[in-house]
Amino acid sequence: TGMITIDPGYKNTGSCKSAITFLDGEKGILRYRGYSIEELAEKADFLEVAYLLIFGELPNQEALDKFHNDIKGESHVDEEMKKILDGFPKSAHPMGVLSCLTCALIAFNPTSVNVSSEKEMYWAIVRIMAKFPVLVAWTLRKKKGLPLDYGDDTLGYVENIHKMMFKKPNHKYEKNKVVIDALDKLLILHADHEQNCSTSTVRMVGSSHAGLFASLSAGISALWGPLHGGANQAVLEMLEAIEADGGDTKKYMAKAKDKNDPFRLMGFGHRVYKNFDPRAKIIKKAADEVLADLGVEDSILDIAKGLEKEALDDKYFVDRKLYPNVDFYSGIIYRSLGIPTEMFTVMFALGRLPGWIAQWREMRLNKEPIGRPRQVYIGPTVRSFVPLDER
Ligand code: CMC
Repeated sequence: TGMITIDPGYKNTGSCKSAITFLDGEKGILRYRGYSIEELAEKADFLEVAYLLIFGELPNQEALDKFHNDIKGESHVDEEMKKILDGFPKSAHPMGVLSCLTCALIAFNPTSVNVSSEKEMYWAIVRIMAKFPVLVAWTLRKKKGLPLDYGDDTLGYVENIHKMMFKKPNHKYEKNKVVIDALDKLLILHADHEQNCSTSTVRMVGSSHAGLFASLSAGISALWGPLHGGANQAVLEMLEAIEADGGDTKKYMAKAKDKNDPFRLMGFGHRVYKNFDPRAKIIKKAADEVLADLGVEDSILDIAKGLEKEALDDKYFVDRKLYPNVDFYSGIIYRSLGIPTEMFTVMFALGRLPGWIAQWREMRLNKEPIGRPRQVYIGPTVRSFVPLDER
C-alpha cells in the first residue's frame, strides 16, 4: 500500500479537482465559476447564482425561466411531512429538524434517490431547490407558532422564501425590497466555499452513491457545528453575553487569548483566509445599510464593531492572521430581520444549498471513486483473547 501520510483536518490535502469555486486565502479572493463574489453579490440574484454554480454558466433569461418554472412545479411538500415536524418539541434545534426533514423527503420522493443520468440528477436538483425553502420556512414557523404555509408562484425565488417565512395569518404580506435584497445578498455570499467541512461531507456521503437528499442531510449536520456554520449563532450569543456582562470587550479579548481558557472569539479566524474574508467586507456594509433602512439601532452592532477594532489592533490576532469571517456580521442582519438566533445556521444552509448540489453533481459526473481515507494504526499489536471471568 506504500507510505501513508497523515494530515489531520486535511490542512494540506486536496480531495478532488473542481471547476466550481476559486479561493485565494492570502489575497482574499473568492470567485464562483470565475465571477468575483463582489460582482455577483452586487449584480446577480440568488437563483442565477445557484444556476451558475450548479450548471457552470450564467443562465440567459430563457434558461433561468425554465429552471424557475420547473422549481415552481415541484414546490409542494407531502402533507404527511407535517406529522414528522409535529413530533418535534418546539424547543428542538432547527438544524436538527432541518436535517431530519431533508432526509425524510427521500421517502416521499423515491424517484430522486438512485439518480445516475443527467436528467434524473436534474429533477432531483429541481425538487430539492423547490422543497428545501418550504422546509426552512416550516422550521421557522413552528418555532414561532405560525401555521405552515406553502409558497406563492407569482413571486421571485427569494421573495417567495421571505413570504413563506414571515407571512402572518390574517395579515397582507408586505414586500420589503431592502430586506429581500439583503436576504438575496446573504444567500449569494454563502452559496459555495469549495471543500469546507459540510461540502466535503456532502461529497463524501454522495461518493457511496447515497442519494442527493441523504448527502445534503449529512451536510446540514456538518454545518451545524460552532466551528463551521454554527458560528453565526455562536457569534450572536457571544455578543449578547458581552453586553449582559456590561459590554467589557477587553475582558473577552483576554479570554480569547488565554490558552488555558477554551473560549474563542467566535466569528474570527478562518482555515483558508489569512488576510481578510471578502464575504465579511460585503456583509459588514450590508449590515449597516439594512439597519439604517429598517431604522434599527442595535447596541450589539456597536459591540461587534468595537470587538473587531480591538482584535485588528491586537498582536495575538495579527500574528495569527485572525480576521472577522462571514459569520461575524451575518447574524446582526438576521436579527434585524426578526429571525431567531437558533435559525441563523438554517439561513446559512439555505444559502449553501446550491453549492452542496453543485459539488455533489460535479463529483457524480466526474465519476469520482468512493471516499475512503486511510490511517496509521497506533493501537496494541496482536493480543490473545482473555475470557470474561479471567479479566
Ligand atoms: N479566537 C482565539 N484564538 C483563535 C481563534 C479565535 N477565534 N481562531 C484561531 N485561534 C488561534 C488558535 O488558538 C491557534 O493559536 P496557537 O497557534 O497559539 O495554538 C491559532 O489561532 C490557529 O488556529 P487553528 O485552530 O489551528 O486554526 P484552524 O484553521 O484549525 O481553525 C477556525 C479555523 C475557523 C475553526 C478557527 O479560527 C475558529 O475556531 N474560529 C472561531 C469559530 C468561527 O468563527 N468559525 C467560522 C469559520 S468561517 C465560516 C464557516 O466555516 O462556516
